Amino acid sequence: MIVVFGSINLDLVVPVARLPAPGETVSGGAYRMHPGGKGANQAVAAARAGARVAMIGAVGKDAFAAPALGGLQAAGVDCSGVAEVSAPTGLALIGVAADGENSIIVAPGANAVAKARDLPAGGILVTQNEIAAEAVAEAHTAAQRRLRVIHNAAPAREITADALAQIEILVMNESEAYATARQFDLSRATAEGAAKAIAAAHDVTTVVTLGAQGATAFEGGLVHRVSAPSIIPVDTTGAGDCFTGVLAAGLDAGLPLPDALRRAAVAGALACTAEGAQSAMPDAAAIDKLMR
Ligand code: RIB
Ligand code: NA
Repeated sequence: MIVVFGSINLDLVVPVARLPAPGETVSGGAYRMHPGGKGANQAVAAARAGARVAMIGAVGKDAFAAPALGGLQAAGVDCSGVAEVSAPTGLALIGVAADGENSIIVAPGANAVAKARDLPAGGILVTQNEIAAEAVAEAHTAAQRRLRVIHNAAPAREITADALAQIEILVMNESEAYATARQFDLSRATAEGAAKAIAAAHDVTTVVTLGAQGATAFEGGLVHRVSAPSIIPVDTTGAGDCFTGVLAAGLDAGLPLPDALRRAAVAGALACTAEGAQSAMPDAAAIDKLMR
């Protein structure tokens, strides 16, 4: 079983021809409301890929709570670990450009006070950086020797060496890999080089997602490289979350890392082909179809 301790947001999405520059106003099309938040997106991706998933997080006592939770409930994620707190439900303001690229502003609200309680005795714990660092660290400490820990370093923030030591698999995109390597003064000529250096220096398995180029993992002395199917991007929102959720689902199902990695890369690409984050998460059959 997979437990995701993470953020739950309501996404307000506006399609625009191109993203605004600082100080600029651009007019867009009709806005849409989607359930989002990196944590909830990961939980939905894992559940749609076939895993049994529970969500731990927090929402407010406001009108945005129900639509923010709707995607988790529809995917069959156990939400009994989601607290109702007095802070507002997390909100993300998202512009999506014609080429599928996005720009996101997050008001964390309830996510900032979320705490991991009642972790199960086994399985995989998935976390990311939209929850307070102290709360993530507490969850990782509670998980030691009971749950495997997969941490997605999104959005990028500083991490201590002690925190890294509690993670089994660290998932990063290219800029997160560069930022983490820079923080520890490690070699970073390429994103893969950065991920390799982090793995070697901190005895952690690292995974770096490379967009259209797929993904690479550094596990012990091993390197696993997988490709991604080529797609026409419509909305890349949630693609990284989808990758992490499906990676966790593969490992939870007992797949070796290279196989779980390839499924994650296929799913991440598929997530870019439809609008929204959770609404674009593929099911196991859609992933299977692109696996060879
Ligand atoms: O990764 C995409 C997510 O980031 C969106 O769903 C939004 O809520 C922000 O948290
Ligand atoms: Na999408």
